[in-house]
Amino acid sequence: MDNFDPAAFAEYLSRQERKDLLRFLTCGSVDDGKSTLIGRLLYDTKLLFEDQLATLQKDSTKHGTVGEDIDFALLVDGLEAEREQGITIDVAYRFFATEKRKFIVADTPGHEQYTRNMATGASNADLAIILIDARKGVLTQTRRHSYIASLLGIRNVVLAINKIDLVDYSKDVFETILADYNSFSSDLAFETIQPIPMSARFGDNVTQRGDKLTWYDGPTLLEHLETVDVRSDQIERPLRFPVQWVNRPNLDFRGYSGTVASGTVSVGEELVVAASGRTSTVKSIVTYDGEKESAIAGEAVTVTLADEIDISRGDLLCDASQRPEVADQFSAHLIWMHDEPLVPGRSYQFKIGTKSVSGSVTDIKYNVDVNTFQHLAAKKVGLNEVSVVNLSFREPIAFDPYVDNPATGGFIVIDRLSNLTVGAGMIDFALRRAANIHWQAVDLDKQRRGEALGQRPAVIWLTGLSGAGKSTVSNLVEKRLFSMGKHTYLLDGDNVRHGLNRDLGFTEADRVENIRRVAETARLFVDAGLIVLCSFISPFRSERRMARDILDPGEFVEVFVDTPLHVAEKRDPKGLYKKARLGQIKNFTGIDSPYERPENPEITLAGATTSPEVLADQVVEYLRENGYI
Ligand code: ADX
Repeated sequence: MDNFDPAAFAEYLSRQERKDLLRFLTCGSVDDGKSTLIGRLLYDTKLLFEDQLATLQKDSTKHGTVGEDIDFALLVDGLEAEREQGITIDVAYRFFATEKRKFIVADTPGHEQYTRNMATGASNADLAIILIDARKGVLTQTRRHSYIASLLGIRNVVLAINKIDLVDYSKDVFETILADYNSFSSDLAFETIQPIPMSARFGDNVTQRGDKLTWYDGPTLLEHLETVDVRSDQIERPLRFPVQWVNRPNLDFRGYSGTVASGTVSVGEELVVAASGRTSTVKSIVTYDGEKESAIAGEAVTVTLADEIDISRGDLLCDASQRPEVADQFSAHLIWMHDEPLVPGRSYQFKIGTKSVSGSVTDIKYNVDVNTFQHLAAKKVGLNEVSVVNLSFREPIAFDPYVDNPATGGFIVIDRLSNLTVGAGMIDFALRRAANIHWQAVDLDKQRRGEALGQRPAVIWLTGLSGAGKSTVSNLVEKRLFSMGKHTYLLDGDNVRHGLNRDLGFTEADRVENIRRVAETARLFVDAGLIVLCSFISPFRSERRMARDILDPGEFVEVFVDTPLHVAEKRDPKGLYKKARLGQIKNFTGIDSPYERPENPEITLAGATTSPEVLADQVVEYLRENGYI
């Protein structure tokens, strides 16, 4: 064999290795028979252990819904609580194998509010089985699940038209449902859609053909799962290797570890670090089983380079001849998975590949009706809604448009406080508007300005209810600092709302925007070397956290003016509480709009029991003790 190519052979081998694992998920509405289907697959592939079977038979007579037959759903709905409620409540992963392949299946619940679980199950999946009850046909849930599956990068779908026994194994019903689904799914980016008529309960077309569906000549579900080719696409795309961590066991070795997201990486190949544009060539590829010449999408490897260049976690290593784009503003599709709606302007954590970056939705362009794909005017994005939005990240990231590469164009949205995944989306394209505006590097920095002014610049952020005493205390603090020769500026809710923020009211969205602008303004004053007093109700933790995060560590001093509602209401200096109680003012903090108490403020002031003068002293004392003045 004189044309034997070891690299190609190694690639072929690892391709084979990858081929034998298929991850899939099942989704459908409640009662479409997901659990029964998975149970049937496990049962028919003879994976059930004897003792499990015995329990199952016992359980079936106790809880089962199918009379004397074994209730396969019980096998999968493992939790007692679920059985009692009759629903599946979390993602359950099952593992089974045939001679041709190994399988990991994520069983996800069908209830409306469980979209997030479905997204969790879908995040690694190669294929989705979308279950349809033959009696009901394509439902809103079917469309929503298909949409989410496509948003999360699933390119292969099995349309399992189940319970076909209940419509007399009718070919007409099957074809009508299929036509209905096809007219909807043509707008989604699926590569394969395999429709299969089946009865999970009786086993028709799950692993065996059954004799009632002679008109169907396609594969059974298992045949299809064993043979469908789901990964060739990711391997053919340009190389993208997100760095998971920098592997530096000693001074002589420096490797970059992660999973190849797409394409092939080979020794000797030129790579570019997408964000910085620095290039080098691959020196070696190390795996668990030793070194190899190349690695393909899906493989976990450590790569070493010929040159020492600056690379850290979250960087994207790419084929130098096919580079991704780099930008910080995007148009994107987003699906929201949280009970609390998405608020434009609020800061969230975005995770794209291994890179985590904070950012916000700057504009909701429209929501999408998942049934008709119509565009709906929208101000917020609620649970399970799909929206087209503009995004702005705090720093540029490397990406590919989602249609070109789901691995580098898909992202998830994480709530900064709860750490919950609250959304998922895909980047459609970069917005060029700010791409060529760079932060001007000026020679004078805030440290030198602060030194010249004899102080450490910072933001003193007073938060609390209306009437808590924020304005009184911040005024006193400012006067004291001024008399000590310090340089200050005071931003106060009532004043700022007359000018900069005169267009904003008191809805949640407007308050978020109010605080965003104030925080950015305060940051500029800090850059000017000043000590900035901010006095705002600022009722939401997320925005106070955002204000903290855009400053350098130590520059944000949160002061909670802790005056209980009944005290503030009794003071009612502007008569606003009274009006709010009479319903003449809406969204009034503490009455019909929430106030989220700070969890770890630098300073808490007892606003109800201590005089403003003493409270001001406490703040000044803190600033002195911590070296601000
Ligand atoms: S914040 O919630 O967005 O931080 P901000 O501190 O700017 O509020 O403004 C609060 C001031 O606006 C209050 O002190 C009060 O004088 C006035 N105000 C008018 N309507 C409301 C309302 N619905 N809720 C709270 N404050 C209101």
